[in-house]
Amino acid sequence: MAGQIPQRFIDDLLGRVDVVEVVGERVTLKKTGRNHSGLCPFHQEKSPSFTVSADKQFYHCFGCGAHGNALRFLMEYDSLGFPEAVERLAGRLGMEVPREGADDPHAQARERKRKEGVNLLELSASFFRERMKMHEAVGARDYLSGRGLSAEIVGDFGIGYAPDDWEGLKRHLTERGISEAVQIEYGLLVHREDTGRTYDRFRDRVMFPIRDIKGRTIAFGGRVLGDAKPKYLNSPETPVFHKGRELYGLYEARQASNRLERLVIVEGYMDVVALAQFGIRNVVATLGTSTSEDHLSRLFRLVGEVVFCFDGDRAGRQAATRALETVLPLMIDGRQARFLFLPEGEDPDTLVRREGTAAFEDRITCASPLSEFLFDQAANGRDLSRVEECERYASQVLAALGKLPDGMLKSLMLGELSRRTGVDQSRFELLMVRNGPAAGESGDAPPPVEGGPPPRGEARTVRSESFSLVARALQLLVHEPGLVERLPDDDDWCPADDEDGRLCREVIKLLRAGRYRSAQVLLAHFHGTSEGERLAVLARRELLIPKAARGAELDGLIEHFQRYQRRRSPREEFDALLGKEKTGERLTREEKQRLMTLLSELRE
Ligand code: UTP
Ligand code: MN
Repeated sequence: MAGQIPQRFIDDLLGRVDVVEVVGERVTLKKTGRNHSGLCPFHQEKSPSFTVSADKQFYHCFGCGAHGNALRFLMEYDSLGFPEAVERLAGRLGMEVPREGADDPHAQARERKRKEGVNLLELSASFFRERMKMHEAVGARDYLSGRGLSAEIVGDFGIGYAPDDWEGLKRHLTERGISEAVQIEYGLLVHREDTGRTYDRFRDRVMFPIRDIKGRTIAFGGRVLGDAKPKYLNSPETPVFHKGRELYGLYEARQASNRLERLVIVEGYMDVVALAQFGIRNVVATLGTSTSEDHLSRLFRLVGEVVFCFDGDRAGRQAATRALETVLPLMIDGRQARFLFLPEGEDPDTLVRREGTAAFEDRITCASPLSEFLFDQAANGRDLSRVEECERYASQVLAALGKLPDGMLKSLMLGELSRRTGVDQSRFELLMVRNGPAAGESGDAPPPVEGGPPPRGEARTVRSESFSLVARALQLLVHEPGLVERLPDDDDWCPADDEDGRLCREVIKLLRAGRYRSAQVLLAHFHGTSEGERLAVLARRELLIPKAARGAELDGLIEHFQRYQRRRSPREEFDALLGKEKTGERLTREEKQRLMTLLSELRE
């Protein structure tokens, strides 16, 4: 990549473009007062909560928190990297993007080196692909079809075959004028110090090319056809390949869709390819390393949501803990991270083949939000009714929250911690300040915008309006279908004059029938309908409240509805109570009191 783009150029560029115009080309906007508004392109909604301000030159969604300037919008909407978005904006204005140090001789040498490497790696990738078609590769082809992969997917991922030959690739490359030294430097040829001989690193293996974001091959992973060790052999670190940075499948995921909203992170090459075979193409794999901050900030530049996928065993739990630590500092508002645990002994490849596409997608939809995983993990095995354990629990949560950047998520979670522990939120805030500033604030936040985001309180009121109480009840039921047990026998409490209310009644009916005891199955029932979409939105939305408190919240909601309905028809309630008394039934003290209140209300 060429040199850095100077900040003053970016400032100048942002001074000249109009965010309303940039957004307006992609989203239908209506002028409302000083602002423009429309349906948010970053989440599903029916009434507009997305506004664009010409004065402040930013957009903000009160529904999902998406927020930023024209550059940010292009990055998110068109899935562009930062430099690409700058290029795109500059292109509109006919401006040339300057690069710092573009004429630095070191930078030029690096660039030459990169080109040389990419050329050699491309040659190797096509060599492996060609070999896959030949007779000698019959075993490799059988192996792949035995794992359920079609020729189309093998083609999409450019999978090839390294022949069972010590010098096959070496001859091919040498004939094309590439020196052995360069072949060694890029990891294709191995040099034995003792004998001085050189030979192909990859032999008799299925070859997965690892591509950079632009589709250029930068390394390979090779799998044995049988059970020999090592199972996978990867390119070593080279001038173009840094294992801790790259993600397998990212290029292919972006090829498959130019409107990616979410990426799933799995462990293995085969998991990415198998999921793609089943039509789930928004998946990337780290290359046998744990997920790094570098990986995550790259992903968050492309999508708002990342789902980590782990094995259900202890190693998986540990990996999840590490992933949580890594992702916390990057969680600025508008981003989401979720945690998916697979049943023990399964990986995404085996599971999707067993369960199929819809079931796996539903697992993704129902993965635990970061908040839930964090609270559950801290609570793990602790008896929170004991002061000491509760203290340790709170400290653990606080330590994690200390790593979160300031924003809505942090304040909601502080509030939740205070509810769970019964300790005043202000005390926690004090403790957080005393424990020092967040470790490693994200360097990846969107460029600062004039005016800044709206005050938190404002955003929150609007949010709760657009997210009704029935929707909340429905959301609780989707996340936790077992809660249906707590509901009153008749559904009168649930408003029937509202779409969410009607859906809620339907969901309750299904849950009562007893066949839908998990969110996944419930979602599968509605799959492909607009109700299904609504439920998926609710399932994706974080509950921000621990498991133990959910029942009580649902009870509270129902009480609210019942009160509300009473208030709506005091006449009916009055008649009912009076009728009850007339039949000779005794009224309780509360009922008598209520009758008196109603009487005076009705007289007014
Ligand atoms: P796994 O051992 O879980 O293999 O390694 P897998 O992905 O399920 O592979 P299949 O299904 O048996 O083909 C997960 C990842 O760890 C790295 C690879 O990136 C692999 O995809 N790995 C594993 C290696 O680099 N070398 C190895 O020897 C094994
Ligand atoms: Mn596997």
